[in-house]
This record gives sequence, C-alpha cells and structure tokens, in this order.
Amino acid sequence: MSETITVGLGARAYDIHVGGGLLAHAGELLKPHLLNNKSKGIVPVVTDANVAALHLQPLLAALEQSGIKAAPIVMPPGEGSKSFAGLEKLSDALLELEVDRKGLVIALGGGVIGDLTGFAAGVLKRGVAFAQIPTTLLAQVDSSVGGKTAINARQGKNLIGLFHQPRIVIADTALLATLPRRELLAGYAEVVKYGALGDADFFGWLEANAAKALDGNDSALVKAVAHSCKMKADIVARDERETGDRALLNLGHTFGHALEAATNFDDRLVHGEGVAIGVVLAFKLSVKLGLCPGQDAERFSRHLKAIGLPTAISDIPGPALSPDFLVAAMAHDKKVSDGKLTFILLRGLGEAFVTRDVPLEAVKEVLE
Ligand code: NAD
Ligand code: GLY
Repeated sequence: MSETITVGLGARAYDIHVGGGLLAHAGELLKPHLLNNKSKGIVPVVTDANVAALHLQPLLAALEQSGIKAAPIVMPPGEGSKSFAGLEKLSDALLELEVDRKGLVIALGGGVIGDLTGFAAGVLKRGVAFAQIPTTLLAQVDSSVGGKTAINARQGKNLIGLFHQPRIVIADTALLATLPRRELLAGYAEVVKYGALGDADFFGWLEANAAKALDGNDSALVKAVAHSCKMKADIVARDERETGDRALLNLGHTFGHALEAATNFDDRLVHGEGVAIGVVLAFKLSVKLGLCPGQDAERFSRHLKAIGLPTAISDIPGPALSPDFLVAAMAHDKKVSDGKLTFILLRGLGEAFVTRDVPLEAVKEVLE
C-alpha cells in the first residue's frame, strides 16, 4: 500500500511518496530527477552511521538496479552533525565528488541528516537539488516536508538555515521497524500534533489506531504518515515562508523548546517528548484563558499517556525545572517578535490558532 501527496508549490512542487517497502523502488522514483545530472554521474547519499548500518546497502542496491552510481557520505549520528563543523565536512565531501549545479544529493536519515543535507545542498555552488529519504517517524511526517533546512549555532538551534525544497520525498514506512521505541514515540508526538491543530476526526482515528500503527501495522502506519504529510503539505503550499498559517505547525514548540533548553538538550528529553508535553501545556494555557473546554485538554493528555508519551513537566527525569528559567528560555526562542511571545493556542481539539496576546503571568501559572 502506498500513497502520493503533492506539495503544491508551483514550479517547486514535489511529490511525497509514502509506503512500506518503497526503498526498493528508490531508483525508479529518483531517476526522473537525475536527467540533468552532468557531474561525474555519481550521486552522493548522505546518511549517518546508525542508518548506514541498517538501510544504506538496500538503497545502494536499488539505485544500482536503475543504473545510478552512488557514493555514500556517512556522518556521525546525533545533533552534533548539524553544526558548522558538520557542514564543512559534508561540503568538502560533496566538492570532492564534484557534484555540479545540475546534480542531485540524497539525504537518507532522520531530521538531522535531512536538515544538514538540505542546507549543504542549498548553499553548495549557490544551490543544488536534493531528495529526502526520511528514516525516522519525525522526519517522515515533519522535517523532510516543507523545505526548512538548517544547522545550529552557538546561540541556538536552527539559526543558520534556508528554505530549500526537496525535489522528492520517499518515506518508506518499513524503515521505521528498526527505530528505537523512544524515537518512534517522539515522532508520534508530531503526528498527534496534526490532529490537535487542525483535524479532530484524524485525532479520533489516531485514538483508535495509533497503537496498531506504532506496532508496525503497515496500512495504519501508512495512513498516519500520509495524512500527516497531507496536512503539512497543505499548510506549506499556502504559507511556505511562515508569514501566517505555517506557524500552526509550531503548536507545543514554544513550550517544548524551553523544556529542551532547560534540560540542556540532553537525554532526559528528546525533541518529540518536549513537543508532547508542550502541546499538553498549550491546551492547559488555552483552558486557563477560557478558550478551550477542559474535556478536550483531558482527552488529548489521556491519549498521549495511553501511547506512552510524557504529558507533564514532572514526567521529565532529574531535578525539577524552574518556571522562571522556562519563561526566560521562551523569551529567547526565535518565535519572539517585537518583544511579544507568539503562542499557538486551541479553541478545542482540531482548532489551533496563532496569538500574540498571552499574558506571561498565565504562562507562568501553567508552568507551575
Ligand atoms: P535524528 O536524525 O537524530 O535521528 C534520531 C536517531 O535515530 C539517530 O540516532 C539516528 O541515527 C537514528 N535513526 C534514524 N533512522 C533510523 C532507523 N530507521 N532505524 C534506527 N535508527 C535510526 O533525529 P530526528 O528526530 O529524526 O530529527 C531531529 C532533528 O530534526 C532536529 O535537529 C530538529 O531540529 C529537526 N527538525 C526539523 C524540522 C524541519 O522542518 N526541517 C522539523 C522538525 C524537526
Ligand atoms: N516544523 C515546522 C515547520 O516546518 O514549519
């Protein structure tokens, strides 16, 4: 079973293919995007060491079957590769391969590899095309779609980046079978976020089917990934540069980023877990401000708990996190404009909206 979603961006439109076993068809899917390749004819495949050990050979075999010569570039796993040093290493390797401006670079990995490769491709020789083959749930439903690419700076995450849309996204849901459970659940936080922000029916479907999908049921997993991609594709198509609606995708992220900063981006909390707690806090803040029925907030938390995601700041291991620190971290987040915090709040399940009218006192009370 597979589904194709188009991101409607005119001349930069592209397809997202979602299905179990698509890696074996990567050569056929990528070939139309290689027609103009005048470089040495070698297509770089950027990946990390974990993914390389599991999924690189099958991809190389699929490419070879279609007559595509590929050269792997293997980066160290982890957020550290999304750095100036990682960019230098990758750019060096791409230049050694003599990738030219009509070439194509393939990213095979999670959000780290996708963001780094997209950025490196975007600045290499003033812009080279790239393809995304996302291998984490988070990357399949979020980071591989929409063209945000970046590396981190000393001053914060994702501060050096570009909008650079991929030419194609190939999301093989079978690759998720090797993902550690914690990473799978963290990616699921982004899936359930789509239900919360804009589709109560999808949320209801997830309540009934998420456990099955996360246990590897192919059709449930394909539906969860494809529906998430469709929702993101629609939002990106109407607001590519985040001047309006695209900010809805940041539901839970202002809280989530503050929690990640407060835990020094260490093992206590991975990004998706921060988002899960962040969406719960966005619901609580919305209830506190009289905007959202309490029962919707409770229903959302109940589902996350049933799936095994954290829902409260007290679920984070280690010393208690100070509300003052969290508020200060939010003020430093890049979603601040004119000194005011931008929040995504909810009028109910499936009804998120963007606001800059939130009293900081209410935010602090929710954190307490
Ligand atoms: P990641 O890329 O670090 O992957 C998580 C871990 O899983 C890594 O250790 C990786 O080696 C391993 N892994 C990947 N695929 C695997 C597989 N199939 N089997 C086994 N192990 C596998 O992390 P992530 O959660 O995918 O992405 C996080 C990054 O994405 C962050 O840097 C975040 O800023 C970025 N992000 C970007 C966007 C965007 O729109 N561009 C959106 C959300 C997040
Ligand atoms: N992950 C948020 C966005 O792509 O806009």
